[in-house]
Amino acid sequence: MPNTVYILNGPNLNLLGKRQPHIYGHTTLADVEKSCSELGEALGVGIRFLQSNHEGQIIDWIHEARETGAGIVINPAAFTHTSVAILDALNTFEGPVIEVHISNVHKRESFRHHSYVSLRADGVIAGCGTEGYLLGLRRVTSLIAGAAA
Ligand code: DQA
Repeated sequence: MPNTVYILNGPNLNLLGKRQPHIYGHTTLADVEKSCSELGEALGVGIRFLQSNHEGQIIDWIHEARETGAGIVINPAAFTHTSVAILDALNTFEGPVIEVHISNVHKRESFRHHSYVSLRADGVIAGCGTEGYLLGLRRVTSLIAGAAA
């Protein structure tokens, strides 16, 4: 599909639902993928939903999105706070980028308050739980359509 949205997930998010559920909840990444696919269908966009624990793999997917992606929703997880390389990759992507965090990173340790990715993101959603992915998908779709308020 030419209007494919890449939904990229960084390290440890494969353990969503099992990992620190008091912070990240009980919903699994497979549940999030299913909800995003359903919403994508309703919005008329294709979804490529991916997770990796490896920084280089995420960068390779961002490069792939340059060719085949209309927008990116990204939860870079811990790479948010460390990765100039992911920022540089996102800066090569021309479509809209929405950054998502399940937890409210601003309520947490100070090292989570800085995001390299926010220097590129067109919008940031934090602290809305896994619903943040759906909010991010809606927003990126509006931006792709040029219908954003
Ligand atoms: C996270 C927040 C990050 O600080 C953390 O390293 C994660 C997940 C979130 O979704 O709340 O792994 O991106």
